[in-house]
Amino acid sequence: SPLIRAPSQQLGPDYRPTEEKPTATVSTAPKINNLHILNQSPQLIALLTMIRDKHTGRADFIFHSNRISRLLVEEALNHLPVLPHNVHTPVAGRTYAGVKFEGKICGVSIMRAGEAMEQALRECCRSVRIGKILIQRDEETSMPRLFYDKLPEDIKERWVLLLDPMLATGGSALMAVDVLRSKGVPEDHILFLNLIASPEGVQNFADKFPKVRVVTAFVDEGLNDKNYIVPGLGDFGDRFFTL
Ligand code: PRP
Ligand code: URA
Repeated sequence: SPLIRAPSQQLGPDYRPTEEKPTATVSTAPKINNLHILNQSPQLIALLTMIRDKHTGRADFIFHSNRISRLLVEEALNHLPVLPHNVHTPVAGRTYAGVKFEGKICGVSIMRAGEAMEQALRECCRSVRIGKILIQRDEETSMPRLFYDKLPEDIKERWVLLLDPMLATGGSALMAVDVLRSKGVPEDHILFLNLIASPEGVQNFADKFPKVRVVTAFVDEGLNDKNYIVPGLGDFGDRFFTL
């Protein structure tokens, strides 16, 4: 399908007049229910610039993609239900009307690349249970193959944060949601956290699972003839784990 032209935006605080601010490419914004794209802040764009750069080495790739994963986890947590929770502060007689999360969560990473997002989840949700689904895309056909899953026994009673940094054709993520659904997880209890998506991927995902919330940092222009996201960042798993 044809590439979607990504918009440009002038970015940065008002130390400089708008016309002198640098212009950067920001995410396309498909109108899809339950698709949540992170605010295209200068900080996020700088982090993405770092990991998209082919000259960025593995240590910097790991450090900066971890920071983006943190932003995704923090945003995803905003989509979980809360209950009223009033507390007494140390100041005599004063209470604070707050909230606390309702229900249990777990992470599920789509191996291998999804494991790169586990640290960010653990930093935000101490001792969180994390299940694994091993799905690999065939390098020739781009079709996903399921090899293995190991998930918490009570997963159907949990909110599931599904982790995979790249959503290309959507085949792998759709297969992972099929696995979660087969274990009884309700569709609307799944949040899919993703660094870079293609427009085709988010559309395929929404067509099949409209109730799954997708939280992504960026929807790119499209896919190339090898079903790699463009401009993308190349092979995330290789750059994070082995290159
Ligand atoms: C990558 C990526 C996704 C999938 C996306 O994994 O991490 O899981 O491809 O492509 P899709 O949307 O077209 O299915 P890959 O299978 O290359 O394995 P890896 O995690 O070991 O890198
Ligand atoms: N997997 C990746 O790591 N990158 C892509 O662009 C597509 C699939």
